[in-house]
Amino acid sequence: MTAKWTPDSWRGKPVQQVPDYPDQEALDRVEASLAEFPPLVFAGEARRLEQQLATVAEGQAFLLQGGDCAESFAEFHANNIRDTFRVLLQMAVVLTFGAACPVVKVGRMAGQFAKPRSAPTEVQDGVELPSYRGDIVNGIEFDAAARVPDPERLLRAYNQAAATLNLLRAFAQGGLADLHKVHRWNLEFVAGSPQGARYEELAGRIEEALDFMAACGVSPDKVSQLRETDFFTAHEALLPNYEQALTRVDSLTGQWYDCSAHFLWIGDRTRQIDDAHVEFLRGVNNPIGLKCGPTLEPDDLLRLIDVLNPENRPGRLTLIARMGAAQVEAKLPPLVRAVERAGRKVVWACDPMHGNTVKSSNGFKTRPFDRILAEVKGFFAVHLAEGSYGGGVHFEMTGQDVTECIGGAQAIGEDRLGDRYHTHCDPRLNASQALELAFLIAEHLKAERLARGAGPRRVAAAS
Ligand code: PEP
Ligand code: CO
Repeated sequence: MTAKWTPDSWRGKPVQQVPDYPDQEALDRVEASLAEFPPLVFAGEARRLEQQLATVAEGQAFLLQGGDCAESFAEFHANNIRDTFRVLLQMAVVLTFGAACPVVKVGRMAGQFAKPRSAPTEVQDGVELPSYRGDIVNGIEFDAAARVPDPERLLRAYNQAAATLNLLRAFAQGGLADLHKVHRWNLEFVAGSPQGARYEELAGRIEEALDFMAACGVSPDKVSQLRETDFFTAHEALLPNYEQALTRVDSLTGQWYDCSAHFLWIGDRTRQIDDAHVEFLRGVNNPIGLKCGPTLEPDDLLRLIDVLNPENRPGRLTLIARMGAAQVEAKLPPLVRAVERAGRKVVWACDPMHGNTVKSSNGFKTRPFDRILAEVKGFFAVHLAEGSYGGGVHFEMTGQDVTECIGGAQAIGEDRLGDRYHTHCDPRLNASQALELAFLIAEHLKAERLARGAGPRRVAAAS
């Protein structure tokens, strides 16, 4: 029998990747404050996302999840938030229109601050300091004082998440996401590129379709889906104390929800079945994700699914495969087969970022666009062969014109990585690379639909 879950039952378990705070009393005070703060999201919104993810699990929609590897205090600007949001809208429209498939949009935004690290300390020029764990924990500067975990950062992260979410809600519902603005989502620096031109062409076709619909009496003032969109937030639930402080009972259903974001996931380094992270997330009712890396065995995955989604609720659990281009075709099929054979209803998404990180010859952590694309293709090929549905993607990306991943149509070479390398952790796709991927995925989805002889996917129910 499973032991009783409470928001703090994780505290009795082994826990990986959490900071060692020198001042426990200060930490307790901050946790107590956070527990009094308003929730960032509402349970009803999380349930709405779960319903939408259930349509993905059934093969009727596609999940687009993307955003920063690590949000930072330094990069907190309205323009950054707007530009990432705009690229996600562009990608979504490319997928919706190009592949005739509804897209569920989830940002790695408004809370994606904490980072798991491969080593607890970092050495530079013979000096050893604690590793940087994200702005919610400590400072990125290689400086002894900055690297001390500071609980006050939890409050600052909460406030930044609240302000980010506020802006995202305004963008999603206040007019920016209006389909009539489809041309205006194209970012200036992308507009001149082949992707930008291709996007302009698609936007023109959408406008024509909208004009036609308006002439038939279907217009944004009558159909809310044309003027606004659902946009959800997500982050890795790496700091269970922060998540616990924002976990509340929903007054409508009496169930627990982690109100720091709509969707929370468990990272590849913290998915031990008896440990704190799995314990915490099994008890909250939000839709959740589980990163599945190459060391995950099918039996362990099934055990994790039993713990995380014992009622087999479609939409509750998204498995985010991040195998690496070289391993996806060997490592993914056994997992997919095990899940299918056991009749587990999950969403399968592909994170082609975390298994494809390499070091450039000039010392940058980077990701080759070709490998990212190869993993996405491998992921879809596996699902096609297994008769399952590859239903989503999970990207680290930004709306800024950064030079962090090499390759793509812009052919960013290693020598250009230093030009605009701004990430606080892993290398992100820039807007143009992200759009390029969206076009390639849309083509794939369309071809797959034709191969299966299926018609367009439709939004399941008017909501
Ligand atoms: C991440 O998504 O930022 C991450 C650390 O991924 P993973 O747990 O898959 O390594
Ligand atoms: Co990352």
